[in-house]
Amino acid sequence: MRKKQLNSKENIKSLEEEKIFQKRLEKHLDELKWLYMELYENDSMFDELCNRMKQFFLERNKELKSRDLAREINQDWYKQNDMLGMMFYIDNFAGNMKGVESKLDYIQKCNVNYIHLMPFLDTPKGRSDGGYAVSDFRKVQKDLGSMKDLDSLTAACHKKNMNVCMDFVMNHTSEDHEWAKKARQKDGEYMSRYFFFDNEHEPSLYEKTVPQVFPTTAPGNFTWLEDANHFVMTTFYPYQWDLNYKNPRVFNEMMYNFLYLANRGIDIIRIDAVPYIWKELNTPCRNLPQVHTIVRMMRMISEIVCPAVLLLGEVVMEPEKVVPYFGTVKKPECHMLYNVTTMATTWHTVATRDVKLLKRQLDIVNSLPKDYVFLNYLRCHDDIGWGLDYGILRAEGMEERAHKKYLNDYFQGYAGKSNSCGELYNADPVTGDARFCGTTASMCGVEKAGFEQDDSAMEQAIKLDLMLHAYMFMQSGIPVLYSGDEIGQVNDYTYKENPDKAADSRYIHRGAMNWKLAENIENTDTVEGKIFCGLKQLEQIRKTEKVFVSNADTWTVETWDSSILCIGRYFEGEKIIGLFNFSEYDKTAWIDEKDGDYIDLISGNEIKPVGVNIPPYGFYYLKKK
Ligand code: GLC
Repeated sequence: MRKKQLNSKENIKSLEEEKIFQKRLEKHLDELKWLYMELYENDSMFDELCNRMKQFFLERNKELKSRDLAREINQDWYKQNDMLGMMFYIDNFAGNMKGVESKLDYIQKCNVNYIHLMPFLDTPKGRSDGGYAVSDFRKVQKDLGSMKDLDSLTAACHKKNMNVCMDFVMNHTSEDHEWAKKARQKDGEYMSRYFFFDNEHEPSLYEKTVPQVFPTTAPGNFTWLEDANHFVMTTFYPYQWDLNYKNPRVFNEMMYNFLYLANRGIDIIRIDAVPYIWKELNTPCRNLPQVHTIVRMMRMISEIVCPAVLLLGEVVMEPEKVVPYFGTVKKPECHMLYNVTTMATTWHTVATRDVKLLKRQLDIVNSLPKDYVFLNYLRCHDDIGWGLDYGILRAEGMEERAHKKYLNDYFQGYAGKSNSCGELYNADPVTGDARFCGTTASMCGVEKAGFEQDDSAMEQAIKLDLMLHAYMFMQSGIPVLYSGDEIGQVNDYTYKENPDKAADSRYIHRGAMNWKLAENIENTDTVEGKIFCGLKQLEQIRKTEKVFVSNADTWTVETWDSSILCIGRYFEGEKIIGLFNFSEYDKTAWIDEKDGDYIDLISGNEIKPVGVNIPPYGFYYLKKK
């Protein structure tokens, strides 16, 4: 009898669940089918996709399903002012997944409520591109743990109100992926999942229009496979084989991988290298319309199966290419995108002490719909590419090639009044182009001042570092710290001794977390303590002041001083003005906000926002009383 009762209770529950799925599916079915048919014209593969979606929905655990329901109701949950991210490689941060779980208290101390676990899926040693060459989408690298550890980590994070982000590397697989192995053995079914060519005719046609990602470390877009007697398309490293999304089997299987990972409790899926996923001859093979069709389908698939999950697009392109990845208000694609041009323009401003270009760039971002959420950052695990608005700079007499050279010289510490340390990345002798690598602290001068034991230079470096974070927190969107930056960690040159890493200077800013130095976080006589406590104050202000929600009004104000940036924010009757001095001199911001009295949230002093003096690399957060 009891058993029967139980069964009928369970039946009701599963019928209710079924209803939820059907309702979500119905909402999107027409559009999803339409887009799928546009690309694939394949009914049975579409039916398979829908069936598997349902299966993944049913397999999703209770906690995640209630997260889904809560977030469907509160769709703006990620736009709140407490959102603060931190990214790290698991091994560098805490050895393995269990180690990360044991460090959640530290992460909370950093006021971080979203962690980006850098690639942790299975990848061949020495041919991994920092984990971005996945050989098995359902297996964790042995040294880092297991899927069970991931389940446990995400559950532990959720208990602490923390979100977990991971990379979904969908443009390519490792050459060690089982599909690639079968393709290499000339199994036609698997060859059709990649781009295989038995002669150089088509590859050479592609090369005419497709730019290179790694011109020095991995030139060209194809790799000759001696054993298979074929070329294979490899946009990134030769061991990263581009997937062919013209094959519906590739799309379906990758969506199953995506849902499998979402069901491990991942909250934010970072779609790696998304602009590259569709290829056509005679095009640059970037940002093609079909890419948007695929991302839109992914958005609908996640809204049907796991609506708690956000899509973060990795679109490292010029602004007009980035914004379309948000989709439209009616047909959204990604929830969040990186504010990459602003990041690069920030460092241009550091090197030139001139905020004009940055102000323009922020004006562009601020004029976009408020639904668009950007991730703001000072640096990430990748190099800094100098993708600036050269049209504007040219009018100021700065030619692209010469200016890029200046920036690279500056940040290597060779030009201008620079205290920065770092290294070039993929310096292309043909185009003269190069990108830059270094940690935030090293680029601000902490490394050099430490080496030279120059206290006043150190003080200035710390000021610059904190001012940049204060300005970054003021931007519209969600700030993300790179682990180690919160204690001012400097460049790590040991990668040069590792033959698997030596050729890739991005490892200079991917060093292991120095827990010994982290013991100093509360001691403000130390560099670590100064930076950590400085940031902590900013983080707490950001968390308590509602003008920091990501859909607040944000604008810039003319200061009539070329080195001072002024950003205003307004939300529900509250207003804050941020002033940031990008120079090593005392400056005056000639602003004239006459709408009342203001208080500086950092010092607690009253300050009139009229002709404000700002010390070298200083800043103010002025709140209207
Ligand atoms: C992304 C990653 C980068 C990687 C590339 C190839 O751009 O951020 O680190 O090299 O994708 O997967």
